[in-house]
Amino acid sequence: VKNAPAGAIAIVGDILDPAVTARVQSELGGRADLVTSDLAPKLTGIAARDEARSRELIDCALTFATTMLKPGASMVAKLFMGAQFKDIVDSFKAHFGSVEVRRTKASRPGSSELYIVARDFRRS
Ligand SMILES: C[S@@+](CC[C@H](N)C(=O)[O-])C[C@H]1O[C@@H](n2cnc3c(N)ncnc32)[C@H](O)[C@@H]1O
Repeated sequence: VKNAPAGAIAIVGDILDPAVTARVQSELGGRADLVTSDLAPKLTGIAARDEARSRELIDCALTFATTMLKPGASMVAKLFMGAQFKDIVDSFKAHFGSVEVRRTKASRPGSSELYIVARDFRRS
């Protein structure tokens, strides 16, 4: 990885691969205060397929976070407005005490891109 900041460890891999989660756990040597996810699929233009793939990625990011976060920790994750929006937000509410959805000024006008800001992770 080019231009990685000093002290950063870059792990390049597929987030759907459990070996990647295991590697992050081992490098971190403990639980995290924050997980951020900017995951997005390569769009095909086939709406149902793109939406299913986006859902798979955000579900995987949430599963990753639930294995990785300390109690009380936070997560910020990209999601796209779509039919599954409420289900996705509810899945975060099952794990965090506070869940907000934000739009950033940096997103392109007309983009369906949003960010979930989830705080107060509750370990089950
Ligand atoms: C919106 S871009 C993120 C850009 C990034 N924030 C940056 O500044 O370079 C979405 C990223 O998700 C990655 N991605 C998609 N599916 C993935 C997967 N299964 N595992 C890991 N990364 C994935 C893509 O490779 C792409 O780089």
